[in-house]
Amino acid sequence: MNNTDILEILTNGKSYESKKVNVAGWIRTARDSKTMAFLALNDGTSLNHLQIVIDKEKFSSEDLSSFMKTGASVSVDGTVVPAMKEGEYEINAEKIELLGDCPADYPLQKKFHTLEFLRTIPHLRVRTNTFNAMLRVRSKLSFALHRFFQENGFVYIHTPIITGSDCEGAGEIFRVTTQMYKDAMKATDEENYIANDFFRRKAGLTVSGQLEGEVAAMAMGKIYTFGPTFRAENSNTPRHAAEFWQIEPEVAFAKLPDIIQIAQSMIKYVIKAVLDECQSELDFFEKAFEKGLKEKLQNVVDSEFVILEYTEAIKILKEAKVEFQYPVEWGLDLQSEHERYITEKVFNKPVFVINYPKKIKSFYMKQNDDGLTVAATDLLVPGVGEIIGCSEREADYEKLKQAMVDRGMNLDDYTGYLDLRKYGSVPHSGFGLGLERIMMYVTGIGNIRDVQLYARTAGDLMA
Ligand code: 4AD
Ligand code: MG
Repeated sequence: MNNTDILEILTNGKSYESKKVNVAGWIRTARDSKTMAFLALNDGTSLNHLQIVIDKEKFSSEDLSSFMKTGASVSVDGTVVPAMKEGEYEINAEKIELLGDCPADYPLQKKFHTLEFLRTIPHLRVRTNTFNAMLRVRSKLSFALHRFFQENGFVYIHTPIITGSDCEGAGEIFRVTTQMYKDAMKATDEENYIANDFFRRKAGLTVSGQLEGEVAAMAMGKIYTFGPTFRAENSNTPRHAAEFWQIEPEVAFAKLPDIIQIAQSMIKYVIKAVLDECQSELDFFEKAFEKGLKEKLQNVVDSEFVILEYTEAIKILKEAKVEFQYPVEWGLDLQSEHERYITEKVFNKPVFVINYPKKIKSFYMKQNDDGLTVAATDLLVPGVGEIIGCSEREADYEKLKQAMVDRGMNLDDYTGYLDLRKYGSVPHSGFGLGLERIMMYVTGIGNIRDVQLYARTAGDLMA
């Protein structure tokens, strides 16, 4: 491999001027004129393409027709020269080697394809500008998240993917089993059937690394997890995937206001990183997906987020002059339409809704003194709704046990988790940020299926 990255030539072209280089990539467009031909070459290192200028006299017509094809891969030897536009550079080709032909049935012939169409060709959609920009932002964003936690003394913990507990208690677990389908169909005795399974007990894919994250935080103080989580949520929405990535910090000695501060600093930090490091990608998303995107992101970096009591949110929604599809009542969960009304219409910036009714939230959340609410918060953002689920954890053994009993949970599956409250319990808090949700927010891409390399949703194992 002796090719120079196209990004390097596009950004540091001056230092390559008049020098011979080799570049390699996929042809996005091939343009022909009488004496000259032009290739727009992309190697994935940059959203922008490098122009290859071909003097047709230097190439045989067979050669020309072999590589003048959208989608073909080529290796180009040539000289870096200034382009027409001040400050830009292109390559005068001397030798072009066809690496891989691309016949005319290549599906990405047009300049514009709908996202719906692209979902039918996940193995090729990565070669579009949208996915080039999306994947780079996803990479930068992920790395910025790591940086934020590493710079603040958090330890990165790898929590298990296969687990025996259901963190969110919503029954959305994918079973993990080695039993044959036909045996499962024959089994009449469930207990016996499970006792013969690989783990000798029920196992599933994790919905959240939180419970194991808490175990680690009770020794390491400040930890975070960052990995895939799975939910068999049978909801067909633009915001739910069956496989998505979560960042889950867990902080010993932190109470709800402390964890809210951490979440706010993290969001600002990573959005600033994307603004600084992904300028051409954001310009692209601004044009293609969301007008005002960069200004929106800059405002997030510059402003304080709103903190709003759930009770207050219900009051606002009741007074709203809007016909909601779902009822608004103290004690009911906020639906997506309610979340969006609050964050888009009322505040137009991120909002932490705090102190939800305990009946609609998970068993592990700290019960407030009012006996009705828990010290939990969801961070809502315009355009997407919930991107973070967060809470202080119940640190009292008896209260936690009662909350589990009230929900009909099998305490035997959670003895380790309960032990944390028995042996040196401390106040602690944590949250889960959905990576795809924040990706939707920073790119303006409206469907979760388009912010993942492959999306897994109910009824569709995109492949
Ligand atoms: O609010 P959730 O269910 O919270 C938890 O799982 C906690 N155990 C997190 C914690 O405190 N450590 O999920 C957290 C976030 C949501 O706010 C959302 O961003 C994302 O995960 N999320 C999903 N993203 C895509 N598809 C789905 N089906 C999602 N479900 C949750
Ligand atoms: Mg939630």
